[in-house]
Amino acid sequence: MRIVLVVICLALTLSTFVWLAGREVEAPAKQVDTEPITMPLIVTAFKPFEYHVNACGNCHGSYAQQHNKVSLRNMSDDRLTQVVREMTEGQGQSPLDTDEQLAVLVKYHQLFRDDLPIVVQNQNDASGASGEISPGSTLELVRADGQKVLAIVTGHRWSAAAGEYVKWVATLNDKRVVFEAGK
Ligand code: HEC
Repeated sequence: MRIVLVVICLALTLSTFVWLAGREVEAPAKQVDTEPITMPLIVTAFKPFEYHVNACGNCHGSYAQQHNKVSLRNMSDDRLTQVVREMTEGQGQSPLDTDEQLAVLVKYHQLFRDDLPIVVQNQNDASGASGEISPGSTLELVRADGQKVLAIVTGHRWSAAAGEYVKWVATLNDKRVVFEAGK
């Protein structure tokens, strides 16, 4: 009788271990964005971050952080474009010069809304490559031969050695966007 009890106890203990081990294996892996989003790199003389700090920061936070992302998400792209244009001319008192600048500023809001980093390149000549980036991001530039260069990020500015890059890989928290050189 005692042996039977011991055997039952052992069996129970063993099956508990098996069950626990099985659980660990079955536990879902931590959700990480492994599939990066790709989009063309924005090459422009316009500096959306600097513009936003100066024209919009008073009411929406320097880097738009005081926007309610839910209300941004509830806006269609057309409506967002319309509101951004109205704000630049009205509340912001800093009308934009071109539709290209408007498109960049809208993209700035869209990527912010989606918790994604945005990169623009303002310059890439003998004196170096530089531009703007969502603060808190890291940026890796990839040359055609696959060589990688880590950019220096200070606030909303990035800089790196001049070069013929094909990719600008920006990471913000667990989100990654690969910006690709235009054709
Ligand atoms: C004087 C304050 C002020 C300034 C400066 C200002 N805004 Fe606004 N903005 C508001 C207010 C208030 C609202 C919400 C009410 C509304 O829709 O009019 C708003 C709403 C918005 C929205 C809609 C999403 C939301 O959060 O409700 C966007 C996008 C926006 N502003 C962009 C900008 C941009 C871009 C600039 C700079 C060119 C700017 N704003 C400058 C006050 C301001």
